[in-house]
Amino acid sequence: MQPIYLDHHATTPLDPRVLEAMLPYFKERFGNSASKTHRYGWEAHEAVERSRARVARCIGARPEEILFTSGATESNNLALKGIADFYGKKGNHFVTGATEHKCVLAALKALERQGFEVTVLEVDGQGQIDLGDLRRSIRETTLAVSIMLANNEIGTLQPMAEIGAICRQAGILLHCDAAQGVGKLPIRVDDLAIDLLSMSAHKLYGPKGVGALYVRRRGRRVRLTPLLDGGGQERGMRSGTLNVPGIVGFGEACKLSIDLLPTEAPRIRDLRDRLQAGLMENLGELVRINGHPTERLDGNLHVSFRGIAGESLVTGLPGLAVSSGAACGSATLEPSYVLRAMGVPPELAHSSLRFGIGRFNTAEEIDTAVEMVTRRVRQLREESPLG
Ligand SMILES: Cc1ncc(COP(=O)(O)O)c(C=O)c1O
Repeated sequence: MQPIYLDHHATTPLDPRVLEAMLPYFKERFGNSASKTHRYGWEAHEAVERSRARVARCIGARPEEILFTSGATESNNLALKGIADFYGKKGNHFVTGATEHKCVLAALKALERQGFEVTVLEVDGQGQIDLGDLRRSIRETTLAVSIMLANNEIGTLQPMAEIGAICRQAGILLHCDAAQGVGKLPIRVDDLAIDLLSMSAHKLYGPKGVGALYVRRRGRRVRLTPLLDGGGQERGMRSGTLNVPGIVGFGEACKLSIDLLPTEAPRIRDLRDRLQAGLMENLGELVRINGHPTERLDGNLHVSFRGIAGESLVTGLPGLAVSSGAACGSATLEPSYVLRAMGVPPELAHSSLRFGIGRFNTAEEIDTAVEMVTRRVRQLREESPLG
């Protein structure tokens, strides 16, 4: 039997409707969207432009404001390094948050090595930045603020509208890594005063290896220096032959998410609440919920279990595809930097699980997950030297 998939922050399964939409573009409609002299090219071009409009609609943007990329990692790098290069004579300072995705923090680290300055804002115990800290961090030389919409570990949402208003008033750019939010929350870039926004198709039931960067053109036009030089595709901002099947899948995934959101969001929230209630009922005092109690992604539940040695928690759950709260990038188990930034003690960080519930999960799966986790935690609790 396949493990129950509850790791939708890592990636989502491809929706079968998305696969159907993509298939012709692997087969008979294989053209290069830049070919102007025949039907193969025209068909591919039309499909790309249809997808561009769908992706734009998903965030309240215009099609000409969407650049297709290989995913959110590339979009984040293009946004931050593109701003640094284009506006580098005007300023040298960026502001970000301690719980941003590694690709934002690493891109800014690379800019630091080139002489740019970066302020990393702390977060509170629930994972949100402080708006007063943000205001105080802005200097004459600040070029941009980069803050994520929703965190990929704890699901905490940042107060984007307030952040947008502060940046707009200060006249600086706001970049938002919305990889975890697009398709799961209604987003309108104008309401949030976002100037650049990164997205990734594989987080919303689309294919891997395709994403987009929204770059504002209305009101104040944002300029960037491209990362790739070449054939000048995507208005010269992202050279390279377009991933037409991937882009078609991304467009279809966005369209589906717009159509499904009103019914899907409450359904997923109910499943998350069922999971939380089940764990609380069975394990009571042992359960600590991490992240924000209300301002979080519907499908997210991040919990730590008190009084157990957590290293073997996730390995003892072969029937569940969940993520451990600890990012073990090296031989030593390092507690996640996100939990550390929130002040979660290391022993609790080690004994944590991240659940990400998605479109195809059922109530039965949630009930089975509650049973499996309960059994495992009780077993570890009995074995625990921590008492
Ligand atoms: C918040 C966030 N940003 C960026 C990324 C990177 O996205 P991609 O896999 O499309 O490069 C992810 C996914 O891992 C993410 O969760």
